[in-house]
Amino acid sequence: MTDVIRGQKTLDAIIRQRRMTRRDFLRASGAVGFGAAAFSLTGCAPMAKEKALYEGSLTFREIAKGDLIKPLVPEGYLLDVLVRWGDALDAQVPFDPTALTARDQETRFGYNNDYLAFMPMQWGSDNSQHGLLCVNHEYTNLRLMFPGMTLDEEMDKVTEEQTRIEQASLGCSVVEIRKETTGWQVVSGSIYSRRLHANTPMKISGPAAGDKRMQTAEDALGILAKGTFANCAGGVTPWGTVLTAEENIHTFFTEYEAKGKKDPEARNHKRMGIGMERYYRWEVVDERFDSNAHPHEPNRFGWIVEYDPYRPEKPPVKRTALGRFKHECANTTLTPDGRVAIYSGDDEMFEYVYRFITKGKYNPNDREANDGLLDEGTLYVAKFNASGMVEWLPLVYGQGPLTKKNGFHSQADVLIETRYAAELMGATPMDRPEDVEVNARTGQLFIALTKNTKRAEGEENEANRRGPNPYGHILELSPPLKGDMPDHSADMFFWNVFLEGGDPINPTHHAYYQHYVSQHGWLTNPDNLAFDKQGRIWIATDGQPDAIGMCDGLYAADTEGKGKGSTRLFFNAPRGAEVTGPAFTPDCTTLFISVQHPGDFPLKSTYDAPSTRWPDFRDDMPPRPAVVAITKEDGKVIGS
Ligand code: FEO
Ligand code: CA
Ligand code: CA
Ligand code: CA
Repeated sequence: MTDVIRGQKTLDAIIRQRRMTRRDFLRASGAVGFGAAAFSLTGCAPMAKEKALYEGSLTFREIAKGDLIKPLVPEGYLLDVLVRWGDALDAQVPFDPTALTARDQETRFGYNNDYLAFMPMQWGSDNSQHGLLCVNHEYTNLRLMFPGMTLDEEMDKVTEEQTRIEQASLGCSVVEIRKETTGWQVVSGSIYSRRLHANTPMKISGPAAGDKRMQTAEDALGILAKGTFANCAGGVTPWGTVLTAEENIHTFFTEYEAKGKKDPEARNHKRMGIGMERYYRWEVVDERFDSNAHPHEPNRFGWIVEYDPYRPEKPPVKRTALGRFKHECANTTLTPDGRVAIYSGDDEMFEYVYRFITKGKYNPNDREANDGLLDEGTLYVAKFNASGMVEWLPLVYGQGPLTKKNGFHSQADVLIETRYAAELMGATPMDRPEDVEVNARTGQLFIALTKNTKRAEGEENEANRRGPNPYGHILELSPPLKGDMPDHSADMFFWNVFLEGGDPINPTHHAYYQHYVSQHGWLTNPDNLAFDKQGRIWIATDGQPDAIGMCDGLYAADTEGKGKGSTRLFFNAPRGAEVTGPAFTPDCTTLFISVQHPGDFPLKSTYDAPSTRWPDFRDDMPPRPAVVAITKEDGKVIGS
C-alpha cells in the first residue's frame, strides 16, 4: 500500500498536498523545469548528472524523442512485429490490399489495432509463453488502406466493397500466440482465433435490453445487436472474459434531424453527436446506419461488450448496466467484499469519469457463475469536490433529478442517456478522460486526461487546472482502506495530480512533474495506461505530433518513491502512429504494444505516397497498423 492510502488518518495532509494553489503550482512546475533545463542540451547520451538526478527504479537507457519512420526501443531490447492488418488468422495466406474482399477481411487481422489483453493459456495460469492476444480495432483510414484517394476524397471515392471491408476490419481479433525460440509467433489455424466485426451477432443484456428505445426493424425485441465497432480500449474481468469499449460510434451514422420538440431521441442523438464528424458511408450498404430511418440503431452502440476468448462459441454480450457513452475503457478491480468495480472514461472534452459496482459478488471457484454478474449493479459518475475529495454519484432512476420531469422514465433511459444523467447529477467536466485504471500493487486509480483545447481560461476546475489544456494530465485517486484493502466501493476517494503534460522548461506549457524529467522524458497527451508487476506506470500517448511536432511514445515512471512521476521515454512510435494498448505478460518479460495508424501524419500521407511504409517497407504495401512484442535481450523484466 502506498503512503497516500495509508495516510487516510492524515487527511489534512493529503488535502494540503492536493490543493496546491495556482501560484504554488506554477512555482512547482518552474522548479522542475529548472532541473530539466540544466540537462536539456546534452541529448540522450548517458549522463552522469542525469543519472544523479533520476532516482527511480527504471534502468533502461532512455531513448531520444524523434521523428522516425520506424519504432525505436532502448539499447538491449528486441522488437518483433507480431501481427499486422491483413495477416490471415487461420493460415499463411499472403495479403494484397488491392485484392482484399470483405469476406476475406473477416478472417484476417483487423485495422487500427488499439487495446490489447494478453490472456494466458490456460486461464488461471500465469503462463507468459503462450496465450490469447485479444485486440480491439477502432477505425479505418481509407486513404492508407487503398490506393487512389486522399483524405478529402475518401467519402466520395469509397466503393461499396471497400465499405464492407471497413465493417469487417473493425471490432476485435482473438489471436493465439506462443513464444518460440525465434520469438513470439501467431499460432496458425488456432481454434480460438476469431474476429468480431460490425456484423457479428451479439446479445444485449442488462436494464436497457428489450427497452423500446433499443428495438429496431431488424430486432423487434431489442435484445440482439449486429456487431461492434469503434472499439477503443477495454479491460479484463477477474473471471477471464474481455471487455471491449465502443467509443466514437457517432461517426458511423448519418446526421440525425430531430422531428419536432417531442422527438424522444433528439436530445440523446445530439449529446452523442450522432452523424457529426462523419468518416463513413455505411448507410449506402446497410440502411441501419441511416439514423433518420432507424433512430434506435445508434442506441445499440456506445456500450461495453463482454466476450469470452476461451469460449469462441459463446456470443458476445453488450452489458447495458455499465452505461452508454463514448467508452474509452472498462478496467476492473475487486471491492473488499468481493464485488467487481469497473472504471471507464468518456472520451470527449468536458465529459466524465464513471465507476460501476456489481450487485453480486465475484465467484472465484466457478468461472461460468460470473456470466451475467455485470447485468446488475450501480453506475456512478465522479464529482471532484472543492473539499479535496472525489465523490461517486449514483445514476439511479428516480433518485435526485433522474425523474420523469427530466425525461427519464426508467433505468433504461438513464443508461441510454448516461451523459445527460451525469450532467444533471453535477459531475465534473473533464479534459477528455481516456484510460482509468487501477495500479494492482497499490490499489490507486489513475486517470489519463488526454487534452482539452476547448477549455477556456477561467473555465478551469479543481481537477482540470489548465484552460486551454493542449497537453493533458494524469490524476491519481486513492480509495480509503477497509481492513488491508483499498475500498473501491467507497463513496469518496482522495485525489492528487500525478503529472501535467508538456515541456517543463517551457513556461507557457505550465507542465508539472513530481520529480526530475529529462528533455526526452516529458510527455503530452496521455491515453492508455498499463502497470507492471512492480507497480510502475506505463503511459502511451496520442497526439504528440499535433501538440509538439514529435512522434507519440510510451513512457514509464515509478508511482512511489523518489522516482514517482519521473517519466522516461521507452518507445518511440513510427511517424504518424499513436501508441495504444500496452500489455505485459504476467512475468513482465514481454511488453506488447499496439501501433495504431502508422503513416497517418501528415494528413497528405496516402497509400500511394505514405510518410512511412512501416512495418513492411515494400513499395507495393502501405503502412500497416501492427502489434509488436518487445523483450529484453537478457530475458529479464521489461524496464528492469
Ligand atoms: Fe480511442 Fe479515446 O481513444
Ligand atoms: Ca484511447
Ligand atoms: Ca490500460
Ligand atoms: Ca485517444
